[in-house]
Amino acid sequence: CGIVGYIGTQAASQILLEGLQKLEYRGYDSAGMATILEGDIQCVRAKGKLLNLQEKLAGQENPAQVGIGHTRWATHGKPEEYNAHPHTDTARRIAVVQNGIIENYRELRAELKAKGHEFRSDTDTEVIPHLIAEYCKQLKAGTLAVEMPTSSLFFEAARRAVNDLEGAFALAIISADFPDELIAVRQQAPLVLGFGQGEFFCASDTPALVTHTRVVLPMENGELARLTPMGIEVYGFEGDRLRKHPQTLNWNPIQVEKQGFKHFMLKEIYEQPGVVRASLEAYLDSEWTPDSPSNPVRLGLPDRFYEELEHIQIVACGTSWHAGLVGCYLLEQLAEIPTQVHYASEFRYAPTPLMPNTLTIGVTQSGETADTLSALEMEKRRRLDREPKFAARMLGITNRTDSTLGHMVSDLIDTRAGIEIGVAATKTFSAQLVAFYCLALDLAVRRRTLTPERLGAIVEGLRQLPAQIEAILEVQERYIGELSHQFAETQDFIFLGRGINYPIALEGALKLKEISYIHAEGYPAGEMKHGPIALLDAKVPVVAIAVPGLVYEKVLSNAQEAKARDAQLIGVTAMNDDHAAEVFDDQLPIPTVDELLSPLLTVIPVQFLAYHIAAHRGLDVDQPRNLAKSVTVE
Ligand code: G6P
Repeated sequence: CGIVGYIGTQAASQILLEGLQKLEYRGYDSAGMATILEGDIQCVRAKGKLLNLQEKLAGQENPAQVGIGHTRWATHGKPEEYNAHPHTDTARRIAVVQNGIIENYRELRAELKAKGHEFRSDTDTEVIPHLIAEYCKQLKAGTLAVEMPTSSLFFEAARRAVNDLEGAFALAIISADFPDELIAVRQQAPLVLGFGQGEFFCASDTPALVTHTRVVLPMENGELARLTPMGIEVYGFEGDRLRKHPQTLNWNPIQVEKQGFKHFMLKEIYEQPGVVRASLEAYLDSEWTPDSPSNPVRLGLPDRFYEELEHIQIVACGTSWHAGLVGCYLLEQLAEIPTQVHYASEFRYAPTPLMPNTLTIGVTQSGETADTLSALEMEKRRRLDREPKFAARMLGITNRTDSTLGHMVSDLIDTRAGIEIGVAATKTFSAQLVAFYCLALDLAVRRRTLTPERLGAIVEGLRQLPAQIEAILEVQERYIGELSHQFAETQDFIFLGRGINYPIALEGALKLKEISYIHAEGYPAGEMKHGPIALLDAKVPVVAIAVPGLVYEKVLSNAQEAKARDAQLIGVTAMNDDHAAEVFDDQLPIPTVDELLSPLLTVIPVQFLAYHIAAHRGLDVDQPRNLAKSVTVE
């Protein structure tokens, strides 16, 4: 979900709407906003996309200078208007927007109902305004001692309410009885404060702020902020005032514009050569030649990372998990380090028995995925106070160094991809792969597991990749655009790959599922005959990644097996591969490269294929149904 809050000297509603537009990638089931107008809360909400809220608000004059807004990704309660945020208390004097889950909402709701509070939604969030109203009532009546005499009654009530909540949440709260205050709260869900001139903001993420200010303060867990037109004060949940220093963002608002592309996803696909180039420039020594005695990789990680390293474990979700699978292949095959890849949501509750001298890598483009963050927290915690060989070594791989992950782990590889807006990850995936190539090479050099010739060839190959990706983009978009017309009615797809391209088959299937709603399965090509082959007939196209290398002939044979069952065969193959041309009905060619480097090329046609099929079906590519870009609940 996305939260925005504003207090200042301008009309809040327009600023809130613009902010919500920038956060819509975080959820788009429903949207709403509350402002304080003529002494009352004015709350407007709409089911569905933000556009519906905009239409409802159009033509309404609203000079209110304080307000909160929300765009929702449903957790508790269907995406209906009555469940949309903001939620208010019985008397509609307090309004709250929330991102997260309040785990003890059932008990709180029962207690509050017993005290006469009237509930109007199915959400967990609604307990919060009622709880604050209850504390306001008790504080006013003098039945509760005010522990913080310097603060307002509203702030004190909100602070007490927050202490009663269990779960992970970020909140923005306003009260019609305290129109000069906006309260922001962070507990395990992201929230950042923005400092303008005579105006102050809070938001789930910085894109909502950058057009107004670049001076920001990411809140930390267990913090409440009191925003007034005069400034921002930050407190701990116990009411202790905290000293904080804002920071200046160094990225450019232009990154969150479409710049002439029809969709963010298409723009981000096209950004890949630049992203891969930037990341290689950052981490590979451009002067290095195979004759140089030094390590070509410069990740800037501390020595303790490398000392007696025996195991690596990677935790991630979704597309980042696929990047982790490629990473695992590279770390094992190049650097010979036993590596495991885990779904973060599984690892948290069924971790591998504690291994000594282990590096744990969290991969997440948003840096906010709750499953990944919780898995890393758990791993850190269980290694506390153990013998030195079990000490936590944590590394984050992300493009959002300003995220929660950035604050959680002391060492990061910044993948240099910048912010990604399209819900289906593309450029951040490629950038994560580059990070893994660099890490695996770095370790291979240190562990002397590669011959100088092999090392030289891989480094040289990496340097060629940006231009090769450019070549694929140039040649293939139109062809794949036309090919995609054939799949207007297709209901199932199979993606096959082996070895280092098996994760690309998974990624191709995931992309297609996410944005075109076509059922797709990614399989290791050799496994198809052990089950999924039963699905095949003339209506099920099979995309096989068959590029020259170790498993090339094997994949071709597996593709033939599919063809023998009448499947339409599409091959991601090397250019001018006549042998493959005989096997496949359609070919999506890539330049000939070392198989080890091929994932950064083979992924481009499968991204294009998913994009064009979805676009051709007229679907909302950037905001596919039921999904959100960063999922901050477990
Ligand atoms: C969400 C997105 C996926 C993404 C996954 C992991 O489910 O819809 O596209 O791959 O989260 O996100 P992360 O930010 O951790 O890479």
